Amino acid sequence: MMKHFIALVLLLFSFLGVHCQEVIPFPNHYEQREGVSIVPKVITVSAQSGEFGSLIPGFVETLENFSLRAKKTEKKGWIQLVRNAVCHNPEEYRLTVSPAGILIEAGCANGCFYGLQSAFQLINSAGAGGSIPCAVIRDVPRYGWRGLMLDESRHFIGKAEVKKLLDLMALHKLNKFHWHLTDSQGWRIEIKRYPLLTSVGATGNLTDPDAPAQYYTRDEIAEIVQYAADRFIEVIPEIDMPGHATAAVKAYPEFSGGGSKQYPNFTFNPGKEGTYTFLTDILKEITALFPSKYIHIGGDEVHFGNEQWNRLPEIGDLMKRERLSDLVAVEHYFLNRMSDSIRILNKTVIGWDEVVTAGLPVSNTVVMWWRQERPEQLEKAISKSYEIVLCPRLPLYLDFVQHPSHKYGRKWSKGEYAPMEKVYHFPGMSYTSGISVDTPLIKGIQGNVWTEVIHTPERLQFMVYPRMSALAEAAWTQDRLKNYENFNMRMEKMMEIFKKYGIVFFDYKNPDSTPEVAGPERR
Ligand code: ACM
Repeated sequence: MMKHFIALVLLLFSFLGVHCQEVIPFPNHYEQREGVSIVPKVITVSAQSGEFGSLIPGFVETLENFSLRAKKTEKKGWIQLVRNAVCHNPEEYRLTVSPAGILIEAGCANGCFYGLQSAFQLINSAGAGGSIPCAVIRDVPRYGWRGLMLDESRHFIGKAEVKKLLDLMALHKLNKFHWHLTDSQGWRIEIKRYPLLTSVGATGNLTDPDAPAQYYTRDEIAEIVQYAADRFIEVIPEIDMPGHATAAVKAYPEFSGGGSKQYPNFTFNPGKEGTYTFLTDILKEITALFPSKYIHIGGDEVHFGNEQWNRLPEIGDLMKRERLSDLVAVEHYFLNRMSDSIRILNKTVIGWDEVVTAGLPVSNTVVMWWRQERPEQLEKAISKSYEIVLCPRLPLYLDFVQHPSHKYGRKWSKGEYAPMEKVYHFPGMSYTSGISVDTPLIKGIQGNVWTEVIHTPERLQFMVYPRMSALAEAAWTQDRLKNYENFNMRMEKMMEIFKKYGIVFFDYKNPDSTPEVAGPERR
C-alpha cells in the first residue's frame, strides 16, 4: 500500500516535471521556469576556460558508464561551462536549464565540478530523449567541511575500494576524506626513514594478528591524493598519538610508553626526547605526501593505556622538570610539543575532542567532537573559540548498525543505533544536548567509518550506503529545505546509481530484501 502511494507521488512529481527532486544533496535554491529541455542522443559539452575544460573527460566517462553518449566539443555544447565572477564561494555554482541545454556558471573549478554532479543526476534521471524542466539552480553548501573518515588500521580495505568511495563522495559533493592510517592493529603508510613501521607494524589486523603486512606505499598514497584532488576532495591523514600506538611501538619498541593490562604497549613515550624526533620525522614525510593544510594527530582515549607512565623514570623526570602534576598534564605536554612541530611544518592540527583541555593554540587547532555523551566537550570547544567539526558517534559513526534487526556492528547503550533518518536530521538540537551549533566555529560535519566490525569492501559498502546520501544532504542543504519524505523519493534514483556502480547497499526502505552483509568473526 505504502509502495503504491510512493509510486503515485513520484508519478505526480515527474508529471509536474519537478526534476530538481532528483538531485542529492538537494540544491539550496531552485526556481522552475517555463518549458523543458530534451536530453540529446549525444550530449555535447563545451568549456570557455581550460580549467573547466579539464573537467569534461571525467564527466563524459561517467555519462558513458551510465549508457549515455557524450563528447567534448570546441563549439557551443548542449552543456556549457562558463567561468563567471558571480560566485564568491569557490564551491558555488549556478545551473540553468533552458530549451537550448544546460549552462553551468561558476567562479572556480570546484563549483563547476559540483554543477556537473547536479547535471549528471538530472540527465541520468531523464535519460536520452527525456525531458528536464527549465529551471535555475543557485547552489552553495551549508558547510565547508563535508567529510568522511575511513579507518584502515583495524582492517585494511585497499586502493580500489577507496577510489570507489572517493567517486561516490564526489557525486555527493563531499569534500574531505579523513584517512585514519595508523592505530593499534596496523600501521598502514610507508615511511622511508622508518621502514619497520610497515615491515613489522603493518602486519596483522584486528581479526588476524598474523595477517601479512598491508599498507599504502608512498606512490599509492600520491596516486590516491591525486585521485581525490581530481574530484575536489582534500585528503587529511591521521597519525594517532600518543595512544593507539601499539603497531608503531611493535616496530620501534624504544618509543613505547607502555600500556595497561587490557591495552599493552598502547602509547608512545612522552618522557623520551627521541619520541618527539621520531614522530616529527614521520610528520615531515606526511607533510610531503599530503598537500592538505591539516594533520590529524588523534589524541583520543589515552587513559585506556597510560597506566605504565606512572612507573617510567623518564616520565617522573619530565613531570619534575616541567612541573606536571598528573598524567593528564603529561598528555597535554605531549600534545603541545607535537602541535609545535606541526606549526613549524606550516600545518594545522586536528584532534579528537579530548584535546579541548590541552591548551593547544586556538588559531592552529581544529577539534572533532565525537563523544555525544560528553556535550561539555563541545561546549568547551565553542567557549574557547576552537573551530569544530561535528562527528558524534550517534548518529555519525557509520560502523553503528542502521537497522535494529542487524546483528553485526555497534550499538550504544540501550541499543541505540544510527539509522538513515537520524543521519539525515543531523545536526538538530536533540543531537547536541541543546547546545546551539549555529555558530561560524562549526566548520561542518563528518561521518566516521571505523573498521573493527568491517573487514571487506562489501561490508564497508553495506555500512556506508545509503547513509552517505543522508550525510551529504545534512552537510550541504540548509535545514529549512530539508524534507525527509522528499529525500526518500529522491533516493530511488540514487539507489539505481548505486546498482550501476555495483555497490552492495542496504535498501533501507525494504530492509528484508537486503540480507545483512556479515561482519568479521574474531579469531
Ligand atoms: C574515537 O572514536 N576514538 C575517536
